[in-house]
Amino acid sequence: MAILEVKNLNKYYIQGKYKNHILKNITMSVNEGDFLGIIGPSGSGKTTLLYCLSSLETIDNGEISLDGQNINNLTDSLVSELRQKHLGFIFQFYNLVPNLTAYENVLLASVIAGKNDEDKINELFALVGMSEYRDYYPNELSGGMQQRIAIARALVNTPRILFADEPTGNLDQKKGKEIMDLLEKLNKDENLTIILVTHNEDYLKYCNKTINLIDGEFIDNK
Ligand SMILES: Nc1ncnc2c1ncn2[C@@H]1O[C@H](COP(=O)(O)OP(=O)(O)OP(=O)(O)O)[C@@H](O)[C@H]1O
Ligand SMILES: [Mg+2]
Repeated sequence: MAILEVKNLNKYYIQGKYKNHILKNITMSVNEGDFLGIIGPSGSGKTTLLYCLSSLETIDNGEISLDGQNINNLTDSLVSELRQKHLGFIFQFYNLVPNLTAYENVLLASVIAGKNDEDKINELFALVGMSEYRDYYPNELSGGMQQRIAIARALVNTPRILFADEPTGNLDQKKGKEIMDLLEKLNKDENLTIILVTHNEDYLKYCNKTINLIDGEFIDNK
């Protein structure tokens, strides 16, 4: 069943006196348990697409449905709730809060969603192999470790979809592969739906579907 459906999505950014057409008539469908890879040149609109799909950005026209529900016309507070409860994010630069410990970073995401699920947090620290580093601050951890914490944070509210924008872009090859192996495990073992943006074509082998985005349009989808 489609967990995410997009029809004729268009997105423009205004820059000075120019109206730039960033995403052009994007139509796509993601099924539960898919590991979708989005690849394309710098500036082709990959991050913008991820932000639009996850309602971090508004769209200009088109339709996005999550679990069959059209999410275009929701109020701001319903959109925030939807994001907190159903969508998880990881980014290239981890985006951890520097003056909170690893544990507190994950806890914060849980508290924001109105929970304080200690058992779940402990389980996630074990899953990402970071149980011994709960009390470390982000600047005491390597990039790969910080990304593991960011993954735990993204999963703390049991999202339906995990969005990952170049999650290995700032890591060496070995650490990058470890993160990809972790994502693969989540996808296979938990049937977690993942939408990954990457520059690394080698990583498309982890994906069951790939989308090639060039200048805001899909080319040769597999
Ligand atoms: N907030 C914004 N305001 C105006 N233009 C923007 C904004 N964000 C992105 N753009 C423009 O939209 C286009 C697509 O940017 P986007 O960041 O989505 O590309 P990308 O494929 O993720 O690139 P990269 O691989 O470098 O991360 C670019 O031309 C960019 O300059
Ligand atoms: Mg980008």
